[in-house]
Amino acid sequence: MESDEIRIAIAGIGNIASGLLQGITYLNQFKEEKNKLLHPKIGSYEARKIRIVAAFDIDSTKVQTDISDAIFAPINCTPKLVNVEKLGVQVEKGPVKDGLSEILQKVINIADGEEVDVVSILKESDAEMLICAIPTGAEKAVEAYAQAALDAEIAFINCTPTTIASDPTWSKKYKQANICLIGDDLQSLAGGTVLHKGFLDVLKEQGVIIKDTYQLDVAGGLETLNTLDDDRKEYKRNVKERSIQQSVDNHINLASGTSDYLEFLGNRRIGHFWIYGEGFMNMPVKIDIRLETLDGPNGAATLIDVIRATKLAQRRAGSGPISSICAFGFKAPPVTTNRHNAGKWFDEYIVGKRID
Ligand SMILES: NC(=O)c1ccc[n+]([C@@H]2O[C@H](COP(=O)([O-])OP(=O)(O)OC[C@H]3O[C@@H](n4cnc5c(N)ncnc54)[C@H](O)[C@@H]3O)[C@@H](O)[C@H]2O)c1
Repeated sequence: MESDEIRIAIAGIGNIASGLLQGITYLNQFKEEKNKLLHPKIGSYEARKIRIVAAFDIDSTKVQTDISDAIFAPINCTPKLVNVEKLGVQVEKGPVKDGLSEILQKVINIADGEEVDVVSILKESDAEMLICAIPTGAEKAVEAYAQAALDAEIAFINCTPTTIASDPTWSKKYKQANICLIGDDLQSLAGGTVLHKGFLDVLKEQGVIIKDTYQLDVAGGLETLNTLDDDRKEYKRNVKERSIQQSVDNHINLASGTSDYLEFLGNRRIGHFWIYGEGFMNMPVKIDIRLETLDGPNGAATLIDVIRATKLAQRRAGSGPISSICAFGFKAPPVTTNRHNAGKWFDEYIVGKRID
């Protein structure tokens, strides 16, 4: 009988990785039946059975340490929510390439020593999928990991906004190799983008024509500092704005993204939403609210569902991008749809009513 354990490798031991490892540990310690994930079980897969078997980073404070220590390196700011025992998985130095923007180079020292052969480590560790959670805009590094997963013949999950799953060339390569490709740009479970789309959906369904809207965040994590770099800021904004624009039929005045880095917020992200629309007889309809969340756990909550669905896809011999998983868990999927359909597609896929 097939094991229901899921062996994952992860590149980038930052706040998402911290949320993921702490989340899996939390589920193992508390065994809550209602665990506040959208899908307590996916097929036969339980979230607590996810096991990290290989890890890559380039930061001198993380490389050559056990991943259970690396997630609490001072530069990561996801709070310690549970005690994580040593896993016996050492963080290895991955390909540096363009991993660090100019701003990040001021706060991260690259570990000494040679870069490892990622493909060999993926094979030796028997990983079934590689999750890429490195900084926004690190295109060459993301591509290096995407190629490594392909060469090791394991699935690739791209949490970053670099276009991989939505790129026809990568998509074709993964399809030809009969390997699943999932992405791009993870969507937090209770995050700004999904909530923004939700408000717009409801207003649209109630006949309101949206005119102007913004969702601007301030936050304190390393990724927020990274997106202060001009090139990388635009990168993330473009993905978020495309994702929001797809929720409405008419062209709207729109801004969405991170507007500033406030170190003292730590892993907290504070989103401000403004929506202006017009209803019956041009009646003005306005929404002005604020959302506060923790980035690491919020992203990990989606990722835990995505990992298990990807395992299911592999078991079903899926190849290339799996539309339903990508649309459900990511802001820039290859096939876009609205929030409601994305959830429906995902649920249909996991019970076998959709083929991709
Ligand atoms: N809720 C969320 O946190 C969330 C939501 C959506 C998307 N994302 C995306 O996920 C990615 C990771 O987010 P995060 O908050 O964990 O970032 P982070 O900045 O906390 O961590 C990134 C890690 O990657 C490491 N790194 C840099 N270059 C590398 C390389 N070449 N190889 C291996 N490691 C490298 C850094 O040292 C750091 O440890 C980002 O691209 C972000 O846009 C995150």
